[in-house]
Amino acid sequence: MIILKNRDEIRKMRESGRIAATVRDEIASRISPGITTLELDEVARKLIASLGAKSAFLGYRGYPGAVCISIDSEVVHGIPGGGRIEIGQIVSLDVGVVYDGFVGDTATTVMVGVTDPEVIRLVRATELALMAGVEMARAGKRLGDLSHAIEMVAVNAGFSVVRDFVGHGVGRKMHEDPQIPNFGNPGKGPKLKVGMTLAIEPMVNMGESAVEVLSDGWTVRTVDRKPSAHFEHTVAIGDEGPEILTVV
Ligand code: MF3
Ligand code: CO
Ligand code: CO
Repeated sequence: MIILKNRDEIRKMRESGRIAATVRDEIASRISPGITTLELDEVARKLIASLGAKSAFLGYRGYPGAVCISIDSEVVHGIPGGGRIEIGQIVSLDVGVVYDGFVGDTATTVMVGVTDPEVIRLVRATELALMAGVEMARAGKRLGDLSHAIEMVAVNAGFSVVRDFVGHGVGRKMHEDPQIPNFGNPGKGPKLKVGMTLAIEPMVNMGESAVEVLSDGWTVRTVDRKPSAHFEHTVAIGDEGPEILTVV
């Protein structure tokens, strides 16, 4: 069942969203050549604790990190480790926090001195796809309208969307109903309603949409090893339209 939040719950979601966004922006600003993803994770752990929150990821189904960091052909769920960031990479950072019982979930993709125009186009298109989805998060629209809007931005730019991983409702738990595919048919699916809180998160591949999970059991990578970008916001559907909660 899709859970509708009341005003008080939305207020708490705003708080957790703001904290998630604060961590996202602070860690993103520290992504630079030479730093390891584990160092970034350690900074995130301390920052999340100092803000009075908890990582929504740490311990989730045994996930070992506080954040997910996925580089180049890694799509999502990269585990922080000893690998150093290098110039020319794209680094997807996903942050989820729990605060006062509610989850904020957000992701961004940082370009580290990227000069390849196709890679820049991929990252920009993925963020545009997110915003096209957010724009459709309105009472009266259907979930398929939102999914389709995301897919169209990616496909019209010549890219493909990941089909094996999707966005989701978010609230007291990180993953609530409904699932939010990044592809779909306009006019189909459940009607969107005021009080829904959604994690909208396009994962867009430069090449084919096929992905595989690595032997670490977590890291998702494109099968063709071409790059992939990921952006995510937690969004509330309000009386007057979408409200992005993962903003500082
Ligand atoms: N934040 C991811 C999402 O956007 C889920 C990460 S689960 C983890 O839905 F265990 F890998 F952290
Ligand atoms: Co996320
Ligand atoms: Co999510």
